[in-house]
Amino acid sequence: MALYLGIESSCDETACALVEDGRVVKGSCMLSQTSIHETFGGVVPEVAARQHLEAINVVIAKTLSESGVQPSELTAIAGTAGPGLVGTLLVGFSAAKALSWAWDKPLIAVDHLMAHICANYIDTDLEPPFVALLVSGGHTQIIHFTDYKNGRIIGQTRDDAAGEAYDKVARLIGLGYPGGPAIDKLSVQGDKNAFKFPEGQVPGYDFSFSGLKTAVLRVVEKLPQPLPTADLAASFQDAVVRVLVKKTLLAQKELGAPRIVLAGGVAANRELRARINEQSPVPVYCPPLSLCTDNAVMVASAAHFCGEEATLGTGVYSRQT
Ligand code: KG4
Ligand code: ZN
Repeated sequence: MALYLGIESSCDETACALVEDGRVVKGSCMLSQTSIHETFGGVVPEVAARQHLEAINVVIAKTLSESGVQPSELTAIAGTAGPGLVGTLLVGFSAAKALSWAWDKPLIAVDHLMAHICANYIDTDLEPPFVALLVSGGHTQIIHFTDYKNGRIIGQTRDDAAGEAYDKVARLIGLGYPGGPAIDKLSVQGDKNAFKFPEGQVPGYDFSFSGLKTAVLRVVEKLPQPLPTADLAASFQDAVVRVLVKKTLLAQKELGAPRIVLAGGVAANRELRARINEQSPVPVYCPPLSLCTDNAVMVASAAHFCGEEATLGTGVYSRQT
């Protein structure tokens, strides 16, 4: 039995979790800063770092006390090492380092993107090989995983990430932050055929979302107030989901992958989950909503499946395309 304590602070969630053998959650605590950043319409890095400082010891203490786990029972301490906001990463990773030293446990530096993928191992029997669609606020990638530690990026966005496009378009049409959940919710009431937005014409498995964002802007500029926000949201979402599903299914087919995995904040999207499940010829794995967006459970799982001691490596998958 291996028990990992994971710490996450790459953006605006301060979180700690305990996971056994990469699949079973033994404890978890998270403090979200969303309400603080809402006022600014996005994450303010300096404010976020200060909030992490306030919250980090609280979430660690609560996770341990509520689970009844003693530090001596831990196999290792894992912290998100990047990518993310430098100032916020520093808070969580320094806490992980301090605990590693104080409790004399190995320290594992976890790649944030690999952690998103590993959210899919929680309470499932998932094993590689698979094709993963990783869609977050900063990244959009299609990755071919042949084993737990090794993934080859076969496609990625050439400009905005899918989540970034959601957030920017939400701001443009007057919805709050974070934009993804707001567009997802509102689009249920809208007509996805109301506006024809382009998919982004990029060859192969790559993506582009900046043209789509501009297309929404051009339409909005010409529309009278009040804006038909539900129709705009539904039409925009349709364009994003269409291309994500199309390219992921193409990759699955061409690589002969026996399963598809969704990961990252945008994997919480209701329409994306529904359409890929409908159209996929192979099983689709998708984390529960709470494990799609940033959390520490996925960090502790990644430590088990992909981690090596920080001095040896970081469990980062190959970044070569
Ligand atoms: O993975 P994540 O929590 O943080 C990063 O690593 O970036 O992803 C956050 C992104 C945000 O852009 C947010 O708007 C988007 O995920 N998101 C969604 C949904 N929930 C979160 N996008 C579309 N539909 C959702 N339901
Ligand atoms: Zn993330």
